[in-house]
Parts: sequence; C-alpha cells; structure tokens
Amino acid sequence: MSVLVTGGAGYIGSHTVVELLNSGKDVVIIDNFSNSKPEVLDKIKEITGKDFKFYEIDYLDRKALEKVFEENKIDAVLNFAGYKAVGESVQKPIDYYTNNVSGALVLLDTMKKYEVKTFVFSSSATVYGDPEKVPITEECKTGGTTNPYGTSKLFIEQILKDIYTSDPTWNICILRYFNPVGAHQSGLIGEEPQGIPNNLMPYIVRVAKGTLKELSVFGNDYNTKDGTGVRDYIHVVDLAIGHIKALDKLEKERKGLFIYNLGTGNGYSVLDMVKSFEKATKKEVAYKIAPRRSGDIAACYADPKKAEEELGWKAKLGIDDMCRDSWNYIKEK
Ligand code: UFG
Repeated sequence: MSVLVTGGAGYIGSHTVVELLNSGKDVVIIDNFSNSKPEVLDKIKEITGKDFKFYEIDYLDRKALEKVFEENKIDAVLNFAGYKAVGESVQKPIDYYTNNVSGALVLLDTMKKYEVKTFVFSSSATVYGDPEKVPITEECKTGGTTNPYGTSKLFIEQILKDIYTSDPTWNICILRYFNPVGAHQSGLIGEEPQGIPNNLMPYIVRVAKGTLKELSVFGNDYNTKDGTGVRDYIHVVDLAIGHIKALDKLEKERKGLFIYNLGTGNGYSVLDMVKSFEKATKKEVAYKIAPRRSGDIAACYADPKKAEEELGWKAKLGIDDMCRDSWNYIKEK
C-alpha cells in the first residue's frame, strides 16, 4: 500500500510516517516546511532504516499536487498539513481557513480526479466545543468552537460528510485527537514549536531547561479536582499507531465514513502534569497561578472505547513516558 502523507515532516506527521514505514507501507511525503524542518526527513530515515519519496510543495498548489498523483500510484492519503496554533488562528483567520479548508478542498478534489478515495483526516477534540459531558463519546454534540482553528476542523468534518453523502464509495476516517505530547523514544524527532509555546508540555520542558522562567498556570478556580484545567494527554507515538489502525480498518471496509476519538480516557490537571514531569525527569518546574486563558474549558477527556472496539487500538504509553520522552527530545537541544 502506498500512502501520501501531507505535512509528513511536522510533529504528528513525522511520527506517523515512522509507524507507516515500520508497518511496511510505501510512503510519499509532501511538505512545504512552513512549520517543520528538512532535517526531520533524515531523522525518519535514521529511525526506520527505510526510504520514502519526498516533494517540497504546498498542498494548495494544485498543479504540483497533480504531479505527485501522476508520478505515484497512491492508495490512501493522510492529511497533516494544517495550521494548528489556536491563538494565532484568532489573529489570522483568513490564513487558517485558506490553508486548512481550501488546502483540504484542493487535496480532496485532486484525490477525486485520480480516483483515490481513501482518506484519514486529522481532526481534534476541539470540535466538541465546551463538551456536553466528559468522558466525551463520538456521539457528543459538535460545534461551539471558539477559534478559527477549531472551526476549520469542524468545517472539514462537514465537508467530508457531504462528500461521502454525494458518493458513498469514499472511504474516510476522521480521527479526533485529544492533547498530543511526547516524542519518539529515539529522541530524534519531536515537537518544536516556533517562538514561545502556547501548549502546556512544550512550555513545561522549556521551564525545566531554563529557557523560560516559570509556567503560568491558567486558572485554579475551575470545577476540577484541584481547580486547574483537565485534559487527556496522549503520547504522539500512540497517536501515530492509531493512524495505522485506521488505515487497516479502511482497507478492510473498502467504503464508509468512520469517526474515532484518539485519547487515553485519563484526565490530568495542569498541576498533575507539573508533578508528573518533575517525578519522571527529576527536574523542577517553577510555576505561578495566573488568570484563566480566554477560550479554555475546565475539562476535556475522551471515552476511547469506540476506537478500542472497532480499530483494536488503545493507548499504551502513560504519563511518565510522555514526560520522559518530551524531556529527552528537548534537553540536548
Ligand atoms: N496551560 C497552562 N499554561 C500554559 C499552557 C497551558 O496552564 O502555559 C493549561 C491550559 O489552560 C489547559 C491545559 O494547560 O488547561 C492544556 O492547554 P494546551 O494549550 O496544551 O492545550 P488545549 O487543551 O488548550 O488545546 C489542545 C490543542 C488544540 C486542540 C485542543 C483539543 O492545542 O490544538 O487541545 O482539545 F484543539
């Protein structure tokens, strides 16, 4: 099976490419390095000892994309080529809708032209807005997103449902990620946000390293066990393996539209994360309590049962692995 991976040099894309190659798939990567580095491609080769095809193109460039489909026999597409910074999306809505929504449309239209109809989409728990209940099941109501990033994911989910309605020979899997953290155990690939990180784990590791002074804990008056926000952190390697299982499912079903939460089912508070990180790495993380961050919700964690039952997928790595591997990746840099 030959899989086209858009954004394959990025954080989740690169970890998924490693698992694809390890599971014997042929891989074609496209990336424009807008939020990733070319070195990642060499690291993937170093980890797997395997090769793949690579094109430095933007997936909005229809002509360039068509060339990729002309030159390769693609069986399935995994789409990681999206912008993902929540705060930035509020400042740059046009950029976010153009890259995420228009990019997905160009990709899907090109797939249609070349009769490739197997598609795995990187969605997000953000589509549940302020969730009606936790743990969140796939049947929970979606909508009420609070930023263009989240809304772009919601729009693309709707577009995929409409495509499937128009032509039920499509074979689509929507994966709703919870909070991806961690890095490959080799320490060769991981997450490298540009500038000051917005997300919790990249911030914690930089405080531990001394690059940033202290963590601001955004609010300690939520209705949670210690008042700080609760999330479902999932190791990026578990998440990557979820994509292999999704592809297996699509290969077996041949057509359909499937939606799965990819989370562990465990909710950890911000203070849990600080303590777990300190325990796993023996590094101290200075923090102060700060006001709530606008748009944040109290608690968000998955009911991962559907993915376990239908994909045979379950997160294996725990919070200690996530902290250790996040630190291991960043400490030498
Ligand atoms: N937090 C802090 N201090 C920080 C950063 C975060 O206290 O410096 C807290 C947040 O308030 C929240 C928790 O840590 O309670 C997690 O925050 P993140 O920014 O790491 O993650 P979010 O849950 O806000 O968002 C993430 C992804 C989104 C995705 C969403 C899905 O960044 O892309 O999960 O639920 F949409």
